[in-house]
Order: sequence, then structure tokens, then C-alpha cells
Amino acid sequence: MAAGNDRELEEIRIEYLGRSGRLTQIFKNIGNLEEGEKKSIGLLINESKNTLQKLIATQKNKFKETAREWFDPTIPGEAPRTGSLHIITQAIEEIAEVFKQIGFIRMRYPEVDWDWFAFEGLNFDKNHPARDDWETFWLNAPESKKYGTMLLTPHTSNGQIREMQREMQREMQREMQREMQRSKKNLPIRMINIAKCYRRQSDISHTPMFHQFEGLVVDKDINITHLKGVLDYFAKAYFGKGRVTRLRPHNFPFTEPSFEVDITCDICAGRGCRLCKEGWLELAGAGMVHPNVLKNGGIDPKKYTGFAFGTGVERVLMMKSGLKIPDLRLLYSSDLHFLGQF
Ligand code: DAH
Repeated sequence: MAAGNDRELEEIRIEYLGRSGRLTQIFKNIGNLEEGEKKSIGLLINESKNTLQKLIATQKNKFKETAREWFDPTIPGEAPRTGSLHIITQAIEEIAEVFKQIGFIRMRYPEVDWDWFAFEGLNFDKNHPARDDWETFWLNAPESKKYGTMLLTPHTSNGQIREMQREMQREMQREMQREMQRSKKNLPIRMINIAKCYRRQSDISHTPMFHQFEGLVVDKDINITHLKGVLDYFAKAYFGKGRVTRLRPHNFPFTEPSFEVDITCDICAGRGCRLCKEGWLELAGAGMVHPNVLKNGGIDPKKYTGFAFGTGVERVLMMKSGLKIPDLRLLYSSDLHFLGQF
């Protein structure tokens, strides 16, 4: 409203005082007047000009005042948008914290790695279907004689060999120090690898990039009860007090024996309901580290044993929150209408 009035005032100013305004025109014609009239008309014009200018200024101020009076303090202000952590980042931090409590150290390994670390070193058969072009993103990069072709890590299990080799280097250094000190200390690995994974998949329940977390423990005298204990601890710490896990025989190339890990359904607490059918939901893959894998990691399987487990971050997040994301691809779509909810 005020803007409209300002404009009208400006129009009036231009009409009378502008370069070709009425008063200016009269002033320009003053030369045509008789000598006696020139002075009095000139004065009159000046006086009118001043009066008009003053009136316009006063009116302008009045408009400003009314505009100010119109200010409504109850109208909500425009709040600046605040950012928030992505829902998957929140889940990753929570999982890392759960494992930190029992001494697992969060590690990072390459996302672009060699076949050796993702498959060969993990005891995968040359013809294993996971190596299929349709599962794994292979890179068009020069091959390595020792490690094969490069790929985008299709699972977090590449961290197993990476961690063992890294740990072995440290162990050798320790060994030398030990010999000097004549004291004995074991190699313990207690690692958690939470990372991006890549597979050739894209539909409402799969994205080409997703997240897994992988745990690895290697030490003297590690057995299945330790694996079960850690899984039950995670089930309770992450999902809630009443939850427990069970191990079901399965097959993975890099563990022996291998298991699928189930967790009691939160709705029926293991009794069986429409959602879970028999009381259990699939949680993870796990097993005792295969002796070949320990060897490939530079660790003597006669001296050391270990266990490993791995599962999807998106999967546990949805199991925990009961979130029904209609299309998993939404998670990585950068759509703030969707992501802003979390
Ligand atoms: N890497 C497997 C996958 O992507 C999951 C897995 C199974 C990890 C068994 C493990 C394990 O550490 O012991 O499906």
C-alpha cells in the first residue's frame, strides 16, 4: 500500500516539478513576459515550488509513519533453515558408539579396492556369483599381478584382510620389542568398519550405493560364544533390552562355520506373528574367520582364531525405527522435504 502511495506522490512531483513539469514549463516561458511581471511571477513560481516540495516531503513521511504503524509483531519471522545430519549418518554414529563401548575401534579402508581384498583373499571361488559383472562395479584400471582388478567395494568385508595385514605389520614390530623385553602380549583385533558399499542394483529396496558395518575380532582362543555374546550385546544395546539373537547355519566363503544371524521380532518378542511368521527377523551374516583368510591376512591360524559379522546400516535402521521408507532411493535423493523429517 505504502509503495503505491509513494509512486503516486512521485508521479505528482514529476508532473509539476519534473524537467518538463508544469511549473518548469512556466519558468521556461518567463522570458516572454513583460519586464514588470517577470519578477513577481518568478517569485510566485519559486514559492509554489517550495510549497509543493514541502508538501510532498511531509506526505512521504506520513506514509512512512503509517507503514511503521502497520507493523504486525505477531506475524512469524522468516526463520533461517537449519541443517541436520543425514539419517544414515545418525545411524552410523549410533552403531559406532554401541561398539565403542566394548572396545571396537572404528576403522576406515579403501572404497576403491582390489579384487584380492574384496574376493580372492576372502576365499571366494573364481566363479562366485558376487563377482559377476551384474553385482560388482569393476573399474577400467590397469590390473595388478598380485591383487587383480580394481573395483568399488561391494561389501565391508574387504576391511578384514586390510585390518589383518595392517595389524600384522604392527605385530611384527611388537614382536621385536617383546623379544627385547621378554614379555608376552597377544595380537588382538577388535575392529568395526562402517562404510559405503556399491552394487549394480537400483529399485525400491536397493540403491547402487548403500552402507554396511562389519566387525572383526582376532585373538588367541576366540570362539563362537564370543561371537554370540557380541551379537546379543549389539541386539540389546541398539534395539532394546528384550532382544536376543540366534545363529542359523549358512555359507560364506570367508567364514567357517558360517551363520545367518536372526534377532527376535520386536512385535511378538519371538513368539511369532504376522510380520515375522516364526518370531525371528534376519539381522546379519557372521561366522568364524576361515583359516585361509587368516593366512591371507598374514596371521597364523594355528595360533589365532577370530570371528566376523556384517550387515546393512539401512537395514538395521529400518528394523529399529519401524520406518517404512516407500522407496529406499529417497534416502540418497537430496530431497529436503523427505530428509528434513529426521
Ligand atoms: N559380506 C557379507 C555380505 O555382504 C556379509 C557378511 C557375512 C559379513 C558373514 C561377515 C560375515 O563378516 O562373517 O553379504
